[in-house]
Amino acid sequence: MGRFEIVVGDITASDAEAIVNAANESLLGGGGVDGAIHRAAGPELLEECRKLRGCPTGQARLTGGYRLRAKYVIHTVGPVYRDGAHGEAAALASCYRASLETAEARGIREVDFPSISTGVFHYPVAQAAAVAEKAIMEFLRAHPAMRRVRMVCHDEAAARVYRQTYNQLYAGEKEQRL
Ligand code: APR
Repeated sequence: MGRFEIVVGDITASDAEAIVNAANESLLGGGGVDGAIHRAAGPELLEECRKLRGCPTGQARLTGGYRLRAKYVIHTVGPVYRDGAHGEAAALASCYRASLETAEARGIREVDFPSISTGVFHYPVAQAAAVAEKAIMEFLRAHPAMRRVRMVCHDEAAARVYRQTYNQLYAGEKEQRL
């Protein structure tokens, strides 16, 4: 895998320079990983988010990390999955690309992602994994300065899907350093 890793854990405990939040367009918090990140970061995170006045689906916004170990939080808004025929894959790919571009622009070299849209937004994990891994691997090829990107799955079941998907997509490239 080289610079891309799949791990199981709680992203709020991540020591990466930046963690990505699976937010909604209001950026005012919610449940799932959004709620967990806001709880761990403390009230200053919401205060900063308020000033951003929202974020459209597929885009990303940068804030401080406050009480988190991560120095930054990159908030991105994934698509709500309907049936796969309403631009969901393009919007999800845009979340990963925009988050990595936002990190790169700030000189951030380590980014941890949650499995965007696969909870409340109902994106099937296997389909989301293929979109996520293609976007991440494409970015890593084009940006040698990015040191590490991790997919932080909340449970082993999700990690298994991400690993299986990765192997299906990139098995032949194992020997190539990325
Ligand atoms: N660490 C890592 N992953 C987590 C954590 C955590 N602490 N908590 C939840 N997850 C995982 C979920 O298991 C799921 O696989 O994050 C993934 C994304 O799920 P959601 O958090 O539900 O996010 P999403 O599906 O993108 O829906 C976003 O939910 O919480 C609200 O405000 C948010 O409206 C927005 C919507």
